[in-house]
Amino acid sequence: MNILLLGSGGREHAIAWKLKQSTRCSKIFISPGNAGTAQVGVNKSFLITDFEAIKNCCIDENIDMLIVGPEEPLVKGIVDYLKKDKKLENLLIIGPSKEASQLEGSKAYAKEFMKRHKIPTAGYKEFDAKNFEEGLEYLHNQQLPIVLKADGLAAGKGVIICQNHIEAISEFELMIQRSKFGEAGKRVVVEEFLDGIELSVFVLTDGRNYILLPNAKDYKRIGEKDSGSNTGGMGAISPVPFADDAFMKKVISKIIEPTVKGLDKDNLEYTGFIFFGLIKVGDEPFVIEYNCRLGDPETEVILPRLKNDLVELLHAAATKDLKNITIEEDSRFASTVVAVSGGYPDEYEKGIAIHGLHNKITEPDLYIFHCGTIESNGSIVTNGGRVICATALADKLVDAVQKSKQEIKRIEFDKKYYRRDIGYEFV
Ligand code: AMP
Ligand code: GLY
Repeated sequence: MNILLLGSGGREHAIAWKLKQSTRCSKIFISPGNAGTAQVGVNKSFLITDFEAIKNCCIDENIDMLIVGPEEPLVKGIVDYLKKDKKLENLLIIGPSKEASQLEGSKAYAKEFMKRHKIPTAGYKEFDAKNFEEGLEYLHNQQLPIVLKADGLAAGKGVIICQNHIEAISEFELMIQRSKFGEAGKRVVVEEFLDGIELSVFVLTDGRNYILLPNAKDYKRIGEKDSGSNTGGMGAISPVPFADDAFMKKVISKIIEPTVKGLDKDNLEYTGFIFFGLIKVGDEPFVIEYNCRLGDPETEVILPRLKNDLVELLHAAATKDLKNITIEEDSRFASTVVAVSGGYPDEYEKGIAIHGLHNKITEPDLYIFHCGTIESNGSIVTNGGRVICATALADKLVDAVQKSKQEIKRIEFDKKYYRRDIGYEFV
């Protein structure tokens, strides 16, 4: 099977690495990819939103399966675009339709979906320019803290947790009247604050059936002990120690099953991953957000724990045959630590030489996944804020974290930074 994978992060390197292990995989193309994916398959240079180039690549390279890594092409409708092309009628696509991708692309759409299907989530109300005045009054009367969310995609920055009413009103005005997040923030979801501990749960669905993948916890803040700015993710662990059988049973019955049934009831065409961003409040799970893709860096810990052949799983999803699949998980812990470029998530440099990549990894159960890297004049240099991550597996979480930290220490680049406390609450 020839596979085209869209994206360029650590998630895509991990997906490509896992696909490559399958005997059913012939050629892998990744666009635009990174220096890590170039070691697994062939990088292409078109953008993930260049739909015509994606279509032409599928035709020219006889692609059998397309896997969409990030959300942007999904929300913009890549799946619908390719499905209407007669020349691509045999192409298997992993990714939901444009309409179903609104579960990630619009917070208001996701909240309405959850309300309709009685899926536990924070109480909310939606505002825009039309009911702006009503919004001001509503904010005055809410308990603190209160959460403001730009409706659309805002590069992970559209959520503001406000500690007082003045801040809430000022942010609300900036979003609706002064386009703080552009079009994405012209509609605002005002949501009740949930006090709990977060985790990420993933399924692969064919629209009717689903399989549960390993769960994970992502460390989003730049600073240790979860301080400072939000990032794309500074590290992750899997499985989540507090997500025991009793809790996961609730997640399945109260959240996953009503979601998958809801997709079917609403006639939403969905083949692909659902990423449930959850929060555990007391013993109860609530949905914070849906994403229509795998997480990054969560993928870098869940795929190394997945024993199944990924191509087989994706083929079963795309042919609506997931019913008979059983997932096999490695029972050990996985941890990943991400090294970022100094200044991230704000301004940072690119093009910095990375050293230490050519030493062969001799230890078992240790993997390096590239995030923002590129080959330039025969050497590998930084090409993004999140640069590279090291994943390790071990029987104990503390050993997995230690091993991934040791490995990330060995890889050098100027102004490198990484969190030393991934998994800190559990070790
Ligand atoms: P989102 O983009 O919806 O994932 O939100 C980003 C982050 O904001 C989440 O990972 C949570 O840490 C936090 N957050 C979002 N909604 C809530 C909420 N209702 N209560 C508490 N924290 C929240
Ligand atoms: N790590 C969070 C995300 O992928 O959205």
